[in-house]
Amino acid sequence: MIVALTGTPGTGKTSVSEILRKKGYAVVDLNRVVKQHNFVFDYDKERKCRVADIKKIDDYIQKQNKNPIIVEGHIAHLLSVDTVIVLRCSPRILSKRLKKKKYDKKKILENAEAEAVDAVTVEALERCKNVYEIDTTKITQEKVAEDVEKILGGKFKNYKVGNVDWSEEILTWY
Ligand SMILES: Nc1ncnc2c1ncn2[C@@H]1O[C@H](COP(=O)(O)OP(=O)(O)OP(=O)(O)O)[C@@H](O)[C@H]1O
Ligand SMILES: [Mg+2]
Repeated sequence: MIVALTGTPGTGKTSVSEILRKKGYAVVDLNRVVKQHNFVFDYDKERKCRVADIKKIDDYIQKQNKNPIIVEGHIAHLLSVDTVIVLRCSPRILSKRLKKKKYDKKKILENAEAEAVDAVTVEALERCKNVYEIDTTKITQEKVAEDVEKILGGKFKNYKVGNVDWSEEILTWY
């Protein structure tokens, strides 16, 4: 089983992955794989970033013989995976987390907006029918890791798409 652990930058994918690794799970760091194997398709001049080659990453992941395998990264849901877990965070708190990570204002706004409109979840649902969401806003990274384990164990009830909704928070922006 291949599981994508995805979400807007700052939702906690890498932090939670470290905990999952310590618990013995096989977790692939997508950013690292792309860099290591140069799985780069193009360069986006406007956004000043490299565009990953999804096909090459997919081939690489399929060859890994670990089960389950968790693929961590903000584009993990674009791969051919069996299950997608989307980490979510309220845009207001997400902005604070990204500010701490020294993201510039433009990038913070871009990511807060993407989170507000459920961008990753929508993209995931276009490709996979097993999509689950964990709201990380008010819980520790350890608790998020436990929630991931519950989903891996088939306990989906509290994580169905739709359990996260930022519309009330967004209304306070206007
Ligand atoms: N559940 C949480 N509660 C509070 N803070 C958190 C939580 N999860 C992560 N953080 C903090 O938020 C910041 C972003 O976390 P992290 O780097 O793991 O996110 P990411 O999703 O991997 O981001 P990116 O896509 O940029 O790699 C870090 O400073 C981390 O300590
Ligand atoms: Mg990360």
